[in-house]
Amino acid sequence: MRIGVLTGGGDAPGLNPAIAGVVERASKYGYEIIGLKRGWEALVAKDTAPYVVKLGPEIVREYSRLGGSRLQCSRTNPVSEGIDRTELVIENVKKLGLDVIIAIGGDDTLGAGAVLNDRGVPIVGIPKTIDRDLAGTEYSLGYDTALNVICDSAEQISHSARSHQTIFFLEVMGRHAGWLALRGGEAAFADVILIPEYSLKIEKLVSILEEKLEKSSKMGLDHMYKLIVVAEGAHIEGEEEVRKDAKIDEFGHYSIGGVGNYLKGLLEHNFKHTRYMALAYLQRGASPSQKDRQMGRRFGNNAVEMIKNGDIGYMVAMQKSRLVKVFLKEVKKSPSLVDVDKYYDRESLNVKIEWTLSNNN
Ligand code: F6P
Repeated sequence: MRIGVLTGGGDAPGLNPAIAGVVERASKYGYEIIGLKRGWEALVAKDTAPYVVKLGPEIVREYSRLGGSRLQCSRTNPVSEGIDRTELVIENVKKLGLDVIIAIGGDDTLGAGAVLNDRGVPIVGIPKTIDRDLAGTEYSLGYDTALNVICDSAEQISHSARSHQTIFFLEVMGRHAGWLALRGGEAAFADVILIPEYSLKIEKLVSILEEKLEKSSKMGLDHMYKLIVVAEGAHIEGEEEVRKDAKIDEFGHYSIGGVGNYLKGLLEHNFKHTRYMALAYLQRGASPSQKDRQMGRRFGNNAVEMIKNGDIGYMVAMQKSRLVKVFLKEVKKSPSLVDVDKYYDRESLNVKIEWTLSNNN
């Protein structure tokens, strides 16, 4: 058995542990693992030689502690509308003698995998996205590490914000889903959390902050700072979801980021001292957390088990805290967004308190 493994889309902590998990289990069964660099780009290249690397236990030994992807990533989509390169993929897979491809990625990478699988290229998927919005799975690699970065950064920022009595906008990733903002903001005890799933009225944000400041003033100067965690995809009611100045990158994705700065600008005349910072790629940059190391390893091990069992065309997924397999096609279903009524308090623009203890406890 000769298995190709690739990582596509944006990098995320947990990709390297997953590659290591694949290699670990494959070597137990004597399967050969070929790393394919830069995601699907490797399989649409005229000359695949620079993209191909043989992987073994010695090579991946240190992988579990490394962020990013040692196989590199790209957002190349071989089956995107406009240019369909299925034939090239089929040809390259044949030339490289690959029996199956393990694709590690988000909806684009695995969505392409689902199409290719239907067209005869055997694919198994592993879920990755720090946004945690992939359909079909409760966990995707990178989310936990990114949350830890948000939590630590909010902590650091609060020292400066407290010292200067700042209204601080901390912008985090989350293009369509507010999970990072919601859970990161919750952990950081943010005063307000803005998520893409709930469009914001600027007057409401101002009045909530004014009210909170008034309450805090009774508690003394130490409390006169406020932290607003804002997801990069958050938007203002009445304005288009995508800001007009958003640029389209070479893969057709609009680049976002800067909404926190925009909001800071709008609120500058309401409050004395306002500041903004985007965590941006720092959220992807940390070395994988314990959870991402463990989940990467488990996903990687399991993907190989699926191949051994002949479960091709599936993604390893986490559901109800258990590892399961779901059809690759599932990733193209509606993304997993924050259920505003369940988790989000529209009145305070913050996390809803969830009571998880049963009465018997
Ligand atoms: O999809 C994951 C993500 O981190 C989003 O939160 C963010 O909008 C996007 O990737 C940024 O991607 P790029 O690397 O293309 O700038």
